[in-house]
Amino acid sequence: MLKMLGSEKVQLIVILIVSLESAFRWSVTASSSIAQELRIGFSATPETGTKTAFQAVLSDPSRNFSLGFLRVKQKQLALAVLHVASSEALWVANPTHAASWSHTTRLFFNGSLVLSDSETSASWSTASNGDSAVLLNTSNLQVQTRGTPIWESFHFPTNTLVQDQNFTSNMTLSSSFYSLRLGDDFMGLYQNHNLLYWKRSAMEVKAQIKEGQGPIYARVNPEGYLGMYQTSDQKPADVQKFNSFQQTTSFLMLRLEPDGNLKGYYWDGSKWVLDYEAISETCYLPRPCGSYGLCTPGGSGCSCLDNRTLFQPGGCFSDVSGDLCGGEGKGIRTSQSTYWVLRRSGVEAPHKELLRHVTTSSLADCEDLCQNNCTCWGAFYANATGFCYVLDQPIQTLMGTGDESKLGYFKVRKEEGGRNRVWVRVVAVLTVLVVVGIVIVGSGFCLTRRNNKRGLKQEDWASPGPYKNLGSIEMAAR
Ligand SMILES: *[C@@H]1O[C@H](CO)[C@@H](O)[C@H](O)[C@H]1NC(C)=O
Ligand SMILES: *[C@@H]1O[C@H](CO)[C@@H](O)[C@H](O)[C@H]1NC(C)=O
Ligand SMILES: *[C@@H]1O[C@H](CO)[C@@H](O)[C@H](O)[C@H]1NC(C)=O
Ligand SMILES: *[C@@H]1O[C@H](CO)[C@@H](O)[C@H](O)[C@H]1NC(C)=O
Ligand SMILES: *[C@@H]1O[C@H](CO)[C@@H](O)[C@H](O)[C@H]1NC(C)=O
Ligand SMILES: *[C@@H]1O[C@H](CO)[C@@H](O)[C@H](O)[C@H]1NC(C)=O
Ligand SMILES: *[C@@H]1O[C@H](CO)[C@@H](O)[C@H](O)[C@H]1NC(C)=O
Repeated sequence: MLKMLGSEKVQLIVILIVSLESAFRWSVTASSSIAQELRIGFSATPETGTKTAFQAVLSDPSRNFSLGFLRVKQKQLALAVLHVASSEALWVANPTHAASWSHTTRLFFNGSLVLSDSETSASWSTASNGDSAVLLNTSNLQVQTRGTPIWESFHFPTNTLVQDQNFTSNMTLSSSFYSLRLGDDFMGLYQNHNLLYWKRSAMEVKAQIKEGQGPIYARVNPEGYLGMYQTSDQKPADVQKFNSFQQTTSFLMLRLEPDGNLKGYYWDGSKWVLDYEAISETCYLPRPCGSYGLCTPGGSGCSCLDNRTLFQPGGCFSDVSGDLCGGEGKGIRTSQSTYWVLRRSGVEAPHKELLRHVTTSSLADCEDLCQNNCTCWGAFYANATGFCYVLDQPIQTLMGTGDESKLGYFKVRKEEGGRNRVWVRVVAVLTVLVVVGIVIVGSGFCLTRRNNKRGLKQEDWASPGPYKNLGSIEMAAR
């Protein structure tokens, strides 16, 4: 090599370019020859040593969709069905238990489609006994026996429904803390599985929901609406129109977003276009300003319920969970030692029509109901009506109203309380400044850059924001 001179060097470069080009051509050929059927004996492992974001193993006949290994958080792996043109994951096999992107992970078909990782012991299986696995041009992954489906991904949606996919009463769409489920005659969005924050009851214009005729189901209709149905006679009991209602669009999907909103999109050939949103006012989202935050409609944004606390993305006090009853088995502890009380007027719960209420004759009576009950986190009193709403969930974001006769009473757990008080923050900021100063002097500007990055991330979290890539789905088991 060292002896090579002049034209020989040029030759070597030419050879390198030619081989790079053929490697490139080879990879293109490989991607257009992805299998359209997996049969018993199939096995694949992720290619290590590359930074590929997605490695396809199965394609549908239209080549619009692919099943394959999706890289998550650099080193983790999810088995996903992707919409190829946009790289959006429409379905994920193992959303809560990631496998690792390494040779320890294997996908194989032995009658079941099985993903297993000997290192993280993550494993997922269709638990079926079929003879092939195929991806349909609807994005539905099926395990079949002689052409008849015995398992299908459409029955196990993740956070997305595509057009014509039936969503039944035993299914759930999930995204971070939130889920979409069907009731007897409605669909609802829930926080932490049990707190209903959005409800759509069937209007029953075209068809009635009848008792004893079985559960309802929902479906995104390609004509541009989200329908609820009870029987298979195709007449919807409810129609939630998308913007593209009765216009021809190529492909529709419905997704539960990480901020708890339910959104519809259509594919216009180059991008996903927002076509429907269940909650259009940010303040009606479950926690746009985090815990103990206050959201004021009309775009004035987030502040804190406690006016001595500065708002910061992530909430005004750290997240809390559970109740104020003390440890299990220790008996009920309602003493004020575990919490302090915060009162604020001009606030109400964004979804108060979905909350339980009682009528009391005074604010004091309303507060008493909450004060003496350790599962209660707060209460609202509407002076005009005498309605007392009791909150049995940790306090999330409330809504500011101009109406000073609406009064709120909130418990703040003591460990959490005070953390963000202004003076504590001043001390913290000073400490940080001193530390940052020292570090900057010591090691230049690399830390500054990292801080900027983190700042961006937090902003991301706070803004309900546009459409987020599922590639960033929270894979960590909760
Ligand atoms: C397929 O492999 C899985 C995991 O090794 C095993 O549990 C299952 O019994 C196998 N299924 C069949 C039909 O052999
Ligand atoms: C999907 O496949 C079915 C037959 O399996 C066919 O009738 C239909 O036109 C195809 N749709 C698309 C969009 O290719
Ligand atoms: C959805 O349900 C309807 C009515 O029961 C049925 O005709 C249709 O085939 C189902 N679609 C899929 C994709 O399973
Ligand atoms: C599927 O492929 C066809 C032909 O390439 C294209 O027109 C259509 O937009 C694609 N659909 C989706 C949902 O990507
Ligand atoms: C904060 O709220 C309390 C009680 O509602 C009120 O008395 C006080 O004036 C408010 N302080 C500021 C700075 O707004
Ligand atoms: C305490 O509150 C919970 C939920 O808010 C309620 O179910 C329970 O009946 C209350 N207990 C008492 C003693 O009032
Ligand atoms: C509550 O209503 C009573 C009687 O209607 C009134 O006297 C009182 O001022 C009201 N309190 C507040 C805080 O609006």
